[in-house]
Amino acid sequence: MSSIKISDGIVKDDVLVIGVSIKSGKGSLQIESGDLALDSKALVATLNDLGATGKADEVIRIPGTATRLLVFTGLGKSQSVFPDETLRRAAGAAARHLAGNSSATFALPATTPLAVKAVAEGAGLGNYLFDQFRGSTKSAQKSPLKHISIYSSLVHGAEAKALSHHAEIVTKYTHIVRDLINTPPSHLTPESFCAMISEAVKAAGGAAVGLKVSVMTHTQLKSKGYGGIIGVGQGSSNPPRLLNISYTPKGVKAEKKYAFVGKGITFDTGGLALKPALGMEAMKSDMSGAAAVCAATIALALLKAPTAIDAWAPLAENMVSDQATRPSDVITIYGGKTIEVLNPDAEGRLVLADALVKAQEDGDLDGIIDVATLTGAQVVALGTRTSAVMTNNEEFSSHFMDLTKISGEAFWPMPLPIELRASLDSPVADMANIGERMGGMLVAGLFLKEFIANELPWLHLDIAGPAYNEGEPHGYTPVGGTGVALRSLIEIGLAAKS
Ligand code: BES
Ligand code: MN
Ligand code: ZN
Repeated sequence: MSSIKISDGIVKDDVLVIGVSIKSGKGSLQIESGDLALDSKALVATLNDLGATGKADEVIRIPGTATRLLVFTGLGKSQSVFPDETLRRAAGAAARHLAGNSSATFALPATTPLAVKAVAEGAGLGNYLFDQFRGSTKSAQKSPLKHISIYSSLVHGAEAKALSHHAEIVTKYTHIVRDLINTPPSHLTPESFCAMISEAVKAAGGAAVGLKVSVMTHTQLKSKGYGGIIGVGQGSSNPPRLLNISYTPKGVKAEKKYAFVGKGITFDTGGLALKPALGMEAMKSDMSGAAAVCAATIALALLKAPTAIDAWAPLAENMVSDQATRPSDVITIYGGKTIEVLNPDAEGRLVLADALVKAQEDGDLDGIIDVATLTGAQVVALGTRTSAVMTNNEEFSSHFMDLTKISGEAFWPMPLPIELRASLDSPVADMANIGERMGGMLVAGLFLKEFIANELPWLHLDIAGPAYNEGEPHGYTPVGGTGVALRSLIEIGLAAKS
């Protein structure tokens, strides 16, 4: 893990990252180094010689004179104030190209504390390497930066420490989420997921920071009637689990209590509705929601958030065997609703239903948020970089959407049209697990809504596309697990109101 600090010291013998933007009209380049004064005329001339465009995701490296290496990162069109997310991405793109160096200073046009935080986060998030499963090719991998400095005159404000601390926590726990997603299913089972999270809770300080972990075993789930988790997991020799992490603020009364529930399918073959081989490997990412809610809860404890969090991760492996759930089998969700499993590949909603009911059992919540790589329809509707938000409470949803402007994560509100609900009716059970194919993301949302108490504010985040990057790396996003939803969950846990 790299350290992140804010500084305004002299940048010498180091790597210096600065921004470059495109002036409107002529399209000429402009140096954007924020609080650091530079001779930009000479730099622009060099950039022109190199054919630089200044577009986002363009990173150009040249040997420095006063500094060791000068790195230009594209910001796109010139603006008097750049959006925080533009800065976050530009810092991330640069960081991705700096592997092999030990430290770097980022001087970008960040004028507010939130903008400085965005640069710090972008640098930390882009600075990621997953090499745990390499053997002979491991030594060829360039190590990420060890020290990140953000150049800013805000260093003297009391906020600077808090900003870099927040960025360090966001970086660390995003990396943990990505590591869990990238870990192959041969090494990440429901049981080992629980072990890794328990380890992370212990490393964060455990009870001393207000965290508690408990795990329900296969036997306990069976005897207590968690038919969703058991039904999905019964085709696998790796038995299912229900993991719970609770965070209670220390020394103060919690301002709010939220439950987070994350889909934790450690591998989704589709079960007896077997998925095609092409692309099935991406289904190791089907536990992204679970990883995000667990990591967010630990991060919130370390940030001393004022909100109590109860996080639930229903974990199972959706496999094929003679024990696997058959299409037409009927299962009973925790609490008693019966479900006809018409398609064993619509398994996420089954494990979530159990966990959602359990999460509400004590009746002391102010809100509940589930996070899931739930439907292919989400990817069709919004693509691979925008996640969906569905809700039963517009106020809660708009509060969340406001906070995504701070986290920089792309979410878009989607409806839950009541007329689609009847398509989930079953001729034999209380409900079927699939309905109308068109609008499949919304149908899945309507299924989950059946397990939410009427008055309880609820958000359903479908992150199927954005959770896992199968394309090229971009901005602060590497190939593989992205860690999406973590930053927005952290923001909502930190925000005192609503
Ligand atoms: N895990 C998948 C959804 C998914 C698809 C996530 C693509 C990430 C990328 C989920 O369990 C699934 O298989 N959903 C089915 C539901 C259908 C059978 C109603 C789907 O979307 O095809
Ligand atoms: Mn599935
Ligand atoms: Zn799935």
